[in-house]
Amino acid sequence: MQISTRSFSAALAALTLMTASHAFAHGDVTPQAIDITGIDPIKDSATWVDTNPYSGNERAAEIGKHAFAQNCARCHGIDAVSGGIAPDLREKLPLGAEGDEIFKERMVNGAVRNGVTYMPKFDGIVAQEGLWAIRTWLETVSVDAPPKEVAKTEEAKPAEPAKIEEKK
Ligand code: HEC
Repeated sequence: MQISTRSFSAALAALTLMTASHAFAHGDVTPQAIDITGIDPIKDSATWVDTNPYSGNERAAEIGKHAFAQNCARCHGIDAVSGGIAPDLREKLPLGAEGDEIFKERMVNGAVRNGVTYMPKFDGIVAQEGLWAIRTWLETVSVDAPPKEVAKTEEAKPAEPAKIEEKK
């Protein structure tokens, strides 16, 4: 049997692409289940709600931070700081209903053009609660997010040299 040159070069191209994307890969490639312990489940979780039910919820943001690292960071960058492969979600998602709508649209449809999947859809693969938890965390890292509150006791202390937090 002869292997056609065309399908061989197509396979080679696919392989090269895979290798290239591996070079950029951050985190896992297959969608990861999200443990939503600690946040209220959505009553009818098969039907998408229009706005983030967890906005401002600290536990949801914590869940979302990890879920983002597992499901989105490989394309959208660690801590949502885009390396250029996919849009920077700190900048591209406005706070509130407008950003929720963009977010929901992508979770349901992904990004597919001319048969090419730029982003897989997550609806039906990862629970809606987990995806809104990601949105909740994204709100906290948004360029529009209000600056974090500084506790009063901290304010009173003399300035200390900045500490670099250790990552797990
Ligand atoms: C395989 C890579 C990949 C993965 C994984 C991925 N995305 Fe994307 N995402 C993209 C690309 C590429 C685009 C731009 C799509 C386009 O060109 O239309 C995008 C677009 C988006 C947008 C729309 C941004 C805008 O400017 O409108 C949102 C929101 C989004 N992604 C969220 C997520 C979330 C949340 C996850 C994880 C649950 C995720 N993405 C996982 C590649 C990815």
